[in-house]
Amino acid sequence: MQTRERRQAIIVLDFGSQYSRLITRRVRELHVYSELVPASATLEQLQSQERLDIRGFILSGGPASVYDEGAPLCDPAILHSGLPVLGICYGMQLLAHQLGGHVALANGRREYGPATLETLFDAANDAQLFRIFAGIDATSAQTNPLDQPPTTNAIRIPVWMSHGDSVDQLPAGFHTLACTESNPVAAIASPQGLVGLQFHPEVSHTPQGKQVLRNFLYRICGCEPTWTTASVIDESVAQIRQRVQGERIISGLSGGVDSAVASLLAHRAVGDQLTCVFVDTGCLRAGEREQVVETFSRHLHIPLVVVDARERFLAKLAGVSDPEQKRKIIGAEFIRVFEEEAALLAKEGGSSAFLAQGTLYPDVIESTSHDTAATATRIKTHHNVGGLPEDMQFQLVEPLRLLFKDEVREIGLQLGLPEEWVWRHPFPGPGLAIRIIGAVDGQKLETLRAADAILIEEIRRAGVYRELGQAFAVLTPLQSVGVMGDLRTYSSVVAVRAVTTGDFMTADWARLSPDLLGRISHRIVNEVPGVNRVVYDITSKPPATIEWE
Ligand code: XMP
Repeated sequence: MQTRERRQAIIVLDFGSQYSRLITRRVRELHVYSELVPASATLEQLQSQERLDIRGFILSGGPASVYDEGAPLCDPAILHSGLPVLGICYGMQLLAHQLGGHVALANGRREYGPATLETLFDAANDAQLFRIFAGIDATSAQTNPLDQPPTTNAIRIPVWMSHGDSVDQLPAGFHTLACTESNPVAAIASPQGLVGLQFHPEVSHTPQGKQVLRNFLYRICGCEPTWTTASVIDESVAQIRQRVQGERIISGLSGGVDSAVASLLAHRAVGDQLTCVFVDTGCLRAGEREQVVETFSRHLHIPLVVVDARERFLAKLAGVSDPEQKRKIIGAEFIRVFEEEAALLAKEGGSSAFLAQGTLYPDVIESTSHDTAATATRIKTHHNVGGLPEDMQFQLVEPLRLLFKDEVREIGLQLGLPEEWVWRHPFPGPGLAIRIIGAVDGQKLETLRAADAILIEEIRRAGVYRELGQAFAVLTPLQSVGVMGDLRTYSSVVAVRAVTTGDFMTADWARLSPDLLGRISHRIVNEVPGVNRVVYDITSKPPATIEWE
């Protein structure tokens, strides 16, 4: 098994680009493990991690200019380590600046958006230098013709630019590989494997970007494709076994894909030493409890305890309208329920010292000491990261800590999780409690559950469920006047929220068709007692968040 071996890795140093995470994901999509670390990380710190066999570095873009006071620099030891380095945008300027070249200030000029990159015509003569553009054929020019037809065997490809400063003097030993119309130095390289790209290979607007990154990983860094779903499963199973040493694990199922996959991994590691606990908080969506039992008990044969805690959660939430307070109450109550279940299981033999959680890599990046995250204000306490009570009795097992959502989905499929489950929209731990604005009670929960079920049914029927990142109904505290069958009504307003998003950090409101919106509104008002008006939320994130609370 792979597990005791050190894992080949590419380290991405984060200089603050909005694309830093995307670079890490792209590398992993190409089957090489990659981690995103703060720009200030030193070679010594990085190489002290026994588990990693570092094969190369990528310096991300970033908003700074190399001449800004306090501009983040790269540990020079990384640049002189002999390992390949790919500098993207600001990363390329750092390569030039720190290795003795020169960067010209933008003076207000910017190159932003699509451009055509043209390699210098000696590309064919110096394969070693031009490895970064290998496998991209000269005819790709036809997808993005310039005014003049190409007169050389240069490669011309569409690329995405976003920069102000540019390199105007190369460090010793470097060569210019390519230019754009407005930038004579758009790609540079040294024969030792230091490469700078002024464009962004990681974004989809650079269609050949994946091949460029592939060249860096496989031709320049000499990586092998070791980051595969099968190897991740093997490794995480071995790690869980080693960590828990035969003790029991309790796993909280939330009904979402993350906790489901974390539980499946734990089950593969310890078999029936795992007990899944599904807490019915009373704040679940329609049919949720039944679906969990059906999938986990009947389909996957995983030991499952369902705890009906509706009354105690509702009692704790009574009269509480502050969103953060609701989150804290629910987070704390969850843990109390798990502890009680652990105590019951202990009576049957074997204590449960471990709690499995579906924390993902983006949560980890955000809650560790990343330069930007450290200073960011806390917007919401997501209970799987920040809301656990301090006196908690469990140690955590977090098998998804190094994984992105799309990787979790792939693993889920591999482990037999039904497709429908794998593609479920995320559902927050506090559930419908943070979708009822103001205080929560049983009646409001009934109303919201019914409205939400109609919304999801119509969205599925229209075939757009998979295109959406999330869709749900919100029960507002507003009452409005209406008229139904000649009678005046004075009832609740339901808001519909549907967003498209890649990573849930930013989101846009979904352009649902007017017909679909009409059907949703018509059905909710007609079928859900106590609701006489439906509104559609057309706010992006930022400035709004996805959830209303
Ligand atoms: P926001 O509302 O911050 O949501 O834009 C981003 C994503 O996080 C989910 N979310 C939560 N998940 N506990 C959770 O487990 C929470 O308290 C929580 N609050 C928001 C939200 O549904 C969206 O997917």
